[in-house]
Formats: sequence, structure tokens, C-alpha cells
Amino acid sequence: MPFIEEFPPAPPGSRPAKRLSETPHVHPTATIRRSELGGWTDIGPQCSVSESSIGDYSYLAGQVSMVWTDMGKFCSIAAQTRINPGNHPTWRVTQHHATYRRIQYGFDTVEDADFFRWRSDHRCAIGHDVWIGHGVTVIAGRKIGIGAVIGSGAVVTRDIPPYAIAVGVPARVVKFRFPPDVVEKLLATQWWDWDRATLEERFKDLLDLEGFLRKYGDTPAPHSAPAPTPE
Ligand SMILES: CC(C)(COP(=O)(O)OP(=O)(O)OC[C@H]1O[C@@H](n2cnc3c(N)ncnc32)[C@H](O)[C@@H]1OP(=O)(O)O)[C@@H](O)C(=O)NCCC(=O)NCCS
Repeated sequence: MPFIEEFPPAPPGSRPAKRLSETPHVHPTATIRRSELGGWTDIGPQCSVSESSIGDYSYLAGQVSMVWTDMGKFCSIAAQTRINPGNHPTWRVTQHHATYRRIQYGFDTVEDADFFRWRSDHRCAIGHDVWIGHGVTVIAGRKIGIGAVIGSGAVVTRDIPPYAIAVGVPARVVKFRFPPDVVEKLLATQWWDWDRATLEERFKDLLDLEGFLRKYGDTPAPHSAPAPTPE
């Protein structure tokens, strides 16, 4: 059986390992509209990001769509995830989008601004260090807490607390990554806000929970959380 190293074959030296930087890395097939991207962010192929913000170090794998969403730092978003798919006006005689995308159907010379305002008022919020598995849908207006995990294929219809692991349709919390005292300590450290020099210096501490808590676990609880978290 033939072994294929890589197809199509890359000319020697033409494909260096990906290096991210303070400048967001956006795949040429991705589209970004009216959004803020932090440093070290990575937006994969065929992603669509609209009227959203994405914190430092967060990445979207391929074919992720997000609209009206505020995402924290260090988030890992797997392929084919959809965050905030638009709701239709179910209360109207017809819920078809011709009722608000009026121009393209020749029904009006302006779109339905009130309807779009209603949609944009229902922003999603994803905390720091959230891992969203393959093919997840996060319904409009939902909030996912810091450190949470969403299992592949889930539909998030309710807010998810910090460090929870939620799976299924609708997504239900099945367990937590850590016991409550550890969660409290991790939240208090706010390590995701460390500046680059501190992160480089303490990078290896992020690999060892017990050592990390010994070193930084006595940080007093913050008065206010700077990132989007469930209310
Ligand atoms: C959520 C996840 C991290 C949980 O992993 P885990 O901690 O090893 O959890 P377990 O396998 O012990 O599962 C716990 C329970 O949740 C269920 N479960 C786990 N993942 C599930 C999923 N995606 N959908 C539905 N149920 C799921 C398990 O069946 C189990 O239920 P049970 O106790 O009734 O048997 C993992 O299952 C998952 O979905 N990973 C996502 C992988 C992915 O999409 N990667 C994309 C590239 S980044």
C-alpha cells in the first residue's frame, strides 16, 4: 500500500510551521465583519465572525460561525460550531426572512432595523479558557462560564457555569473539571490576564494544577470579572 507523506506535495521549505503573533491570524477563506480580535488569535478556514469580539489566544477551527458574541481569552472552538444562529420572528404571520431582509425581495427600500436590533441585543458570552467541541450550537443569548467544556454535538440552550462539562441536546452539566474549592481558586487567579512576559515566565506552571495552586492559589477573589461570564 503506498504511503502518502503529504498531498498535494509542498515544495521543500515552502511550508514553515505556523507561527502566531500579536497580529490576529486569519485564514484567507475566513470572513470578518465589524469585530475585534485579540493578539495570538487564529481564525481557521471558512470561519465567519460578525459583530463579535475574540480575546487573546482564542482560536476558531474551520467552518465556525459566530455572530453577536463576546469571547474571552484562551478559548478553543472546534470545527463546525455555530454560536448565535439568528432566530426568526415566530410571532409574525410568516417568519420568513423577507419580513426583515426587505430590500432583496423588493418589499421596501430599508431593512427592518428593529428586528435586527432585537437579534443583536441577544449576544452570546463565552468566558476564558472555554473548550467547545466539534459541531456545537450555542443558542442566542446564552452564556458559557470560564473554563467550561461543551461536548461535541451539544446544543447549548441554557447558561453553563464555570468549569462545568456539559454534553448533549439540550446540553446538561454532567460533571465539573475540578471540585468547587479548586474552581474558586482558579477563578481568583485570573491567570488569563497575565501579560505576555508573565505568561512566558510561568508557562510551565499552567501544566501542573497542584503546583499552580500552591504558587498562585491564595490570590484574593476578584471584585469584578473582566470577561463575559454567566450572570
Ligand atoms: C465532553 C467530553 C470532553 C467529555 O469527556 P470525558 O470527561 O472523558 O467524559 P466521559 O466520556 O466520562 O462522559 C461522561 C458522560 O457524558 C457522555 N458524553 C460524553 N461526551 C458526550 C457528547 N459529546 N455528547 C453526548 N454525551 C456525551 C458520556 O456518554 C457519559 O455519559 P454516561 O456517564 O451516562 O455514560 C468529550 O466526551 C467530548 O465530547 N469531547 C469533544 C471532542 C471534540 O469535539 N474535539 C474537537 C477537536 S478540539
